[in-house]
Amino acid sequence: MVNNLWYKNAVFYQISIRAFKDSNGDGRGDLNGLTEKLDYLQTLGVDCIWIMPIYPSPLRDDGYDIADYYSVDSAYGSLDQFKVLIEAAHRRDIRIIMDLVLNHTSDAHPWFQSARSDRNSPYRDYYVWSDTDEKYKDARIIFVDTEKSNWTWDEKAGQYFWHRFYSTQPDLNYDNPNVQEEMLNVARFWLDLGIDGFRADAVPYLFEREGTNCENLPETHAYLKKLRAFMDEHYPGRILLCEANQWPEDVRPYFGDGDEFHMGFHFPIMPRIYMALKKGRYEDMAQIMRRTPPIPENCQWCTFLRNHDELTLEMVTEEERQWMWKEYAPEPRMKLNLGIRRRLAPLLDNDRRKIELANSLLFTLPGSPIVYYGDEIGMGDNLDLPDRNGVRTPMQWDDSPHAGFTSGTPFTEPIQQGVLGYQHVNVASQLKDPNSLFHTIQKMIRLRKKHTAFSGSDMQWVETGNPAVAVYVREHDGETIIVLNNLSDVHQTVRLPTAHQKIGRELFSDRSFTLKEQVTLQPYSYLWFLAEY
Ligand code: NOJ
Repeated sequence: MVNNLWYKNAVFYQISIRAFKDSNGDGRGDLNGLTEKLDYLQTLGVDCIWIMPIYPSPLRDDGYDIADYYSVDSAYGSLDQFKVLIEAAHRRDIRIIMDLVLNHTSDAHPWFQSARSDRNSPYRDYYVWSDTDEKYKDARIIFVDTEKSNWTWDEKAGQYFWHRFYSTQPDLNYDNPNVQEEMLNVARFWLDLGIDGFRADAVPYLFEREGTNCENLPETHAYLKKLRAFMDEHYPGRILLCEANQWPEDVRPYFGDGDEFHMGFHFPIMPRIYMALKKGRYEDMAQIMRRTPPIPENCQWCTFLRNHDELTLEMVTEEERQWMWKEYAPEPRMKLNLGIRRRLAPLLDNDRRKIELANSLLFTLPGSPIVYYGDEIGMGDNLDLPDRNGVRTPMQWDDSPHAGFTSGTPFTEPIQQGVLGYQHVNVASQLKDPNSLFHTIQKMIRLRKKHTAFSGSDMQWVETGNPAVAVYVREHDGETIIVLNNLSDVHQTVRLPTAHQKIGRELFSDRSFTLKEQVTLQPYSYLWFLAEY
């Protein structure tokens, strides 16, 4: 039977094709490289891969600046190779979603080239032009480190054009019905090729309206509902995953009545996981989860610890942001825009206990988790690289030259310095070692998928009188799991209310266990307890 709700209990994995595996020795990862490595992802237990943009692009924003929506950049391969990849993934029960960049194109896109050079071009109105840079003043600037305005003067056009990201990424004009139609055609093209859905990039910004911050506008939701209706009609079972870096109450409308997005990233919980680990207190996490409204039955959150961007601090207060920078970005070059450009392992001092604990939270919170490539082996970052490139270095496959990523000269060297260098951190050695981080994450994934308690939306915090231990109950379909996470670097004892004193099994050790009134946890340790009586 086809399960159209597959995403509700799936484990996702995010990949930069360029950085994953090079199959032809040109130094850049490619589609065939990923096809070669599908067995690895199957071993890990991944259900769905999100691949970052593979469209032809001048790469001013690593492919989020698209110059042609209908093909694959030749550096990555061809459309035929993409089909082969999709089929090979499907044979392994792995789905693939890709980025759909709706908000903007590259300035190299022929639409923009035509628009800027001729006021009468049919494409002029595909973009947002103005004679002044005074409009929409209430819209914030997102790339604060590089952009001074959301308007850029274009000499050729003789007007300003609107852009929410780099000035090389002009925003499309969604007030133009042709633009709306074009983007449905783009979606159709890739869905016909067989992909399983989209991670829809930067959706809050599709429309502009004077007197608003130009985010989350009703017109934007109306268009996204159209996109969803189109998918439901022609491609049931394929999904839309929403990238809206917003507060939970502002993301909630993107689920509509179950008729807009299937999934949405939960941005605000992410920095609070890091806050919790550093403070040794769970209250910030609990607060944001309490502030998270229920979502329709056919929808699901997507939770993550890291991704290809800076660890965003947009969804915290100014005071919290300063604190996070102080704690997690002690060197100025670690900061980027309103975030921190570091990977999971270095952020957590490469401390295995903390890395596991962060993952314990990731895999047991409501929502379907997504793992950023390389974090399952604890890869490091390269702060010498500009922008976000330092967290997009080649996957470390083994300890051979260039980490087994390429037989040629890599587009950028894999991490080679120190304890996180590929000689120490790589897939081959972790596959051999039953105690490796890889095997722990693999086990977490297996348990996460096996136990339906995790796939529901229910989560109850348990008051134990100890602020250092995050204790919560996940219940769904008659299954009850109690999760305990000691966020601190010392032993902690919690007192469980009678209702939670149960007989059952600890899932990692698979040992019978009784949760008594008092439970003591080792520093940074966690228990996933399946209640049986
Ligand atoms: C969000 C993407 O994650 C980021 O990498 C990109 O720069 C912006 N959207 C603009 O497309």
